[in-house]
Amino acid sequence: MSEFEPPYILAIDQGTTSSRAIVFDSAGAIVAVSQAEFPQHYPQDGWVEHDPEDIWKTTLETARKAFLTAEKSGEVVAVGVTNQRETTIVWDRETGAPVYNAIVWQDRRTGEVCERLREEGAEPHIAARTGLILDPYFSATKAAWILDTVDDARARAEAGELAFGTVDSFLIWRLTGGKTHATDATNACRTSLYNIHENQWDDALLEKFRVPRDILPDVRDCADDYGMTDPELFGRALPICGVAGDQQAAAFGQACFAPGDIKSTYGTGCFVLINTGDKPLASQNKLLSTIAYRLDGETTYSLEGSIFIAGAAVQWLRDELQIIKDAAETAALAESIETNNGVYLVPAFTGLGAPHWAPDARALITGLTRGAGRAEIARAALESVVYQTADLMTAIARDGADAKTLRVDGGMVANDWLMQFLADILGLPVERPKILETTALGAAYLAGLKAGIFQDTEEIAERWRLDARFQPAMAPEQRARNLAGWADALRRTLV
Ligand code: G3P
Repeated sequence: MSEFEPPYILAIDQGTTSSRAIVFDSAGAIVAVSQAEFPQHYPQDGWVEHDPEDIWKTTLETARKAFLTAEKSGEVVAVGVTNQRETTIVWDRETGAPVYNAIVWQDRRTGEVCERLREEGAEPHIAARTGLILDPYFSATKAAWILDTVDDARARAEAGELAFGTVDSFLIWRLTGGKTHATDATNACRTSLYNIHENQWDDALLEKFRVPRDILPDVRDCADDYGMTDPELFGRALPICGVAGDQQAAAFGQACFAPGDIKSTYGTGCFVLINTGDKPLASQNKLLSTIAYRLDGETTYSLEGSIFIAGAAVQWLRDELQIIKDAAETAALAESIETNNGVYLVPAFTGLGAPHWAPDARALITGLTRGAGRAEIARAALESVVYQTADLMTAIARDGADAKTLRVDGGMVANDWLMQFLADILGLPVERPKILETTALGAAYLAGLKAGIFQDTEEIAERWRLDARFQPAMAPEQRARNLAGWADALRRTLV
């Protein structure tokens, strides 16, 4: 007898640096996992691209592996998809071949276009409709760049020959053998082309960003019918019936269903989402208003703070500075010194996201003395993740959204030292759940809702289990000293 409870759900989690597939059983336990990293391309300063074929290949390979392992003990009956958001792909409807690499969310190449639109006074109008600020982060200017740069692309797009999508759409297209061109509301709302109040593509935005309507996918609920997988891929056709952008999926997996429920995910970047209920809250503090999920046509909104570099700072220590071999070493290094010894790292490698939105800012380290070494730099990288979260929490509080505890997930939260430091600096309890794979779990819950495996969000909320709670314990003077050091380093970065 297997320890798992069939039926199973396959969650595909296509992230910025790796593709993962996790099969969950109907009690939310992990049955099988597969993961594959793929190459990042940096063709110019500030540009970040992925080869869409790498995205597809690693997705299919990991999905098949997890599927085959899981099917030894039970049957997979539904597929959920979650993905790195905003990353933009344009492909040929006939052949399915991308016309250009995927332009990744971190890519800054359309900074000037955004600047021009800002000078024309377009930002308030765009923000009012999309809940977003004007920044190269979002898909619209990336899609227009592809149409303007690739030979004949604009003409072909206008003739209906090309399709645009974020990574979810591209994967759904490939998984269904080109039968479904669709996205969900949480991904659509990150393009800057979607009106979050009316819940539809917006003609005025399409015109402003010069994106033809014919290339857009159909927008569906998060738990909805996205077609069947091509039978050749898994040996039989499986229904794709849950889709959400990765940060919204994580919030769903963390059961953030009531206003004020808040989570922070520490992956490549860090993303804090707080549920604001059935109305979007227009931020006065440069946060984003975004769709948390849409179920049965009912939209729940959230306020989001997006930081571009979190785990990526630790990768930088490993790959560029080469002062660690493994990310796990950072915890011991950080703990090996009493304090940060005045060293701060502002990881503005690709500019700064919320609440600063400074695409041209670049990283710096302050406070280095002759005695500062690996420990100080590793600790500064970890601390930077916490200070950036603190800046987001301040902006959230200023916007009037009230957080009582912070639920955390993502690879970095296994680090107890970091979680305690987070609770200390935020002055808030931090809760780590038993299942840290909340992004994939959220996608599985969505697919499971549509497949009838889970009944409603109340049932899902009851399944959430606490692993550890970190209570704030730092002396107020120490906290103030740390925050002042960070504020000083930030000021130098933003000049
Ligand atoms: O908005 C970008 C975000 O969706 C990327 O998430 O987990 O790949 O860093 P991640």
